[in-house]
Amino acid sequence: MKRLSDELGVDLWIKRDDCTGLSTGGNKTRKLEFLMAEALEQGADMVMTQGATQTNHGRQTAAAAAKLGLACHLLLEDRTGYDEANYNTNGNVLLDHLHGATTQKFPAGHDMPGEMERAAEKKRAKGHNVYVIPGGGSNATGALGYVNCAFELLGQFNDASLKVDRIVHATGSSGTQAGLVAGMCAMNAQIPVLGIGTRAPQPKQEQMVYDLACKTAEKLGCPGVVQREHVMANTDYVGEGYGLPTGSGIEAIRMFAELEGILLDPCYSAKGAAGLIDLARKGEFKGERVVFLHTGGAAALGGYDFAFDSSDRWVTL
Ligand SMILES: Cc1ncc(COP(=O)(O)O)c(C=O)c1O
Repeated sequence: MKRLSDELGVDLWIKRDDCTGLSTGGNKTRKLEFLMAEALEQGADMVMTQGATQTNHGRQTAAAAAKLGLACHLLLEDRTGYDEANYNTNGNVLLDHLHGATTQKFPAGHDMPGEMERAAEKKRAKGHNVYVIPGGGSNATGALGYVNCAFELLGQFNDASLKVDRIVHATGSSGTQAGLVAGMCAMNAQIPVLGIGTRAPQPKQEQMVYDLACKTAEKLGCPGVVQREHVMANTDYVGEGYGLPTGSGIEAIRMFAELEGILLDPCYSAKGAAGLIDLARKGEFKGERVVFLHTGGAAALGGYDFAFDSSDRWVTL
């Protein structure tokens, strides 16, 4: 990212997992490659998952289900309390419905995994074979998608003779970072992976990633390769809470859009990029080559139009 690198004085590169293909792309597509294969193996005719109203994971699950001819049901938790029409019907929600998924809404703080089990039982009683995917697709099966991403990155660095000092990305339900860390450790790559938090406080976020990275390494056939010190999360950029845009996130969205022509989302990739930008400005990456893993999410932008003031873009000549 030449213009952003010049702006921040750090050699910044980007891995475009916002271009993974299904329904505008994003990080869940890699997880769904493995999760949907398991669903098909188990003879499922329906998949079910849960997340926030503007869940990118839900939208990509709906798209993957459409491609494979499976039904899809999404349980959406109102984690932000926004009653703006676009937040509730546009962005990812619009795309969920375009892909044929059915949706159900729940208040914040609801027991979503429990609710999902109850919903799956109801569908099973009606004869469906339901495959339940945890929120964010974050279990050891889904995280294998990011082991694959780690292998792919190492191959690309190698092919381009690129020495990379660090990988930075937004972390949430933990599967992306867990898979990357497990993959890097399995290959003894020793490239630090820094997750920028979007919800949980640091100790909880790191513990979640570590636990899942260990399980993923085990599933991969490399038990014990992940050590606690391989897991690093910085949660200084969450702001007031999950899904609530921050000033630094909005600035990151504008910088990526105006300097690189790349779109971020306010909930995840903007907070990840806000961390990247702030740490770069503070000199934390001095002399380093850093890869920002773009995890996608721009499909949510249409649901967050109220977070942007573009009045100065309308001009009279
Ligand atoms: C755009 C985007 N980036 C990052 C993440 C976080 O990834 P993970 O849940 O694997 O930690 C998500 C999760 O929903 C996401 O939608």
